Amino acid sequence: MYQKIFTRRKFLLGLGAVTAMGAVVTGKDELKRQQILALDDADCECIKYPGDESLKQRAAKKKLIFGAAIRYDQLSSDTEYAQNIAKECSILLPEWGLKWHVNPKPLRPTPESFDFTAADWMLNFARTHDMQFRGHTLVWHESLPPWFENTVNHQNAKSFLEKHIQTVVGRYRGKIHSWDVVNEAIEPRDQLPNGLRKTPWLELLGEDYIDLAFRLAHEADPKAMLVYNDYGLDYDIANDEAKRNAVIQLLKRLKSKGTPIHALGIQAHLNGSETNFNPQKLKDFLAQVADLGFKILITELDVTDKELPHDIEIRDRIIAKVYNNYLKVVLEEPAVIAVITWGLSDKYTWLNEFKPREDGAPVRPLPLDLNGKRKFAWNAIAHAFDNAPTR
Ligand code: G3I
Repeated sequence: MYQKIFTRRKFLLGLGAVTAMGAVVTGKDELKRQQILALDDADCECIKYPGDESLKQRAAKKKLIFGAAIRYDQLSSDTEYAQNIAKECSILLPEWGLKWHVNPKPLRPTPESFDFTAADWMLNFARTHDMQFRGHTLVWHESLPPWFENTVNHQNAKSFLEKHIQTVVGRYRGKIHSWDVVNEAIEPRDQLPNGLRKTPWLELLGEDYIDLAFRLAHEADPKAMLVYNDYGLDYDIANDEAKRNAVIQLLKRLKSKGTPIHALGIQAHLNGSETNFNPQKLKDFLAQVADLGFKILITELDVTDKELPHDIEIRDRIIAKVYNNYLKVVLEEPAVIAVITWGLSDKYTWLNEFKPREDGAPVRPLPLDLNGKRKFAWNAIAHAFDNAPTR
């Protein structure tokens, strides 16, 4: 099975290379190409359209939740996008609004102030559409305000962290499904003890910043599920393996301290060109996390097509199969309770700006296309929910 997945992918990549090279594809070539694509389609149920039922409905049948991270400026200005979000998602989170600082509406404009405009608007949208709401993220080394470096120091860092978490989590007490309390605290390449990432918080407060953040969040909202969130946990490559091991050790340390942490968030920013996907290794990692008593959320799922052929027919198939192959593995683990994509439509994906294609073609990493239409990726996610065991 594992081999078959990549034989097919090599097939499509080869085909993509041929069509990309062959500037003028002759009629005969086109016929051959269509035959190959049809052959590939026949080979994979996962890209066939499974019917109109939405992703949230399919997920709910298995007691799972599906949703997306969305930007306030997009959701508040694009009616069709908002309708698609409401139709497909049963949970929503602000891509920016609950970080310390992202323009144009930073949560922390000054050391003394908070601006909840964006997050409040999005919470209201979620509640109006009977969606759950999750918070991202209370403690991270990125998106810190411009004033942070010259204001926060060893003497006052703890009180800044206390005030931030008490104010932000306290405001949404009882209204949040889950919080990404600490984001991306592990980076083995920084070569620090326990594989910790070199961050301002670690420098200011030591490793205990992690335990402190979770305790503050739990005091401010005892009902919220508290999540440690990280990326680079998916593939059979050296750094992902090192990161998985360091994350397991972190979870064990926190558990032994009695830290109020309930779940691991696996961001799952996947790569359509990555062939080192080992289902058994991922399965074993998920089981290790579950055996420690933690739930698991897939928190930022998308699949970059940066290095895939230009041909959309081919790209979309490969991306769809990555979604299906990955979700088949993760949804087998009963501790996995949610699947959340980072954006819902190719119209609004961070990857267009942060990982653009060299050929300049718009990227196509998400379930809906630029016009909000369902793609093979949508079909693949739908099939994964339909075939998932019920929680
Ligand atoms: O909109 C402003 C623009 O007006 C300004 O000219 C420009 C330069 O300052 O910045 C623009 O805002 C940027 C925004 O992306 C839109 O491009 C912010 O500076 C930039 O920080 C923001 O990046 C976000 C990033 O997190 C950092 O917060 C991305 O949108 C967002 O998708 C990304 O999401 C992260 C998760 O939070 C954690 N996991 C990884 C994931 C992807 O990096």
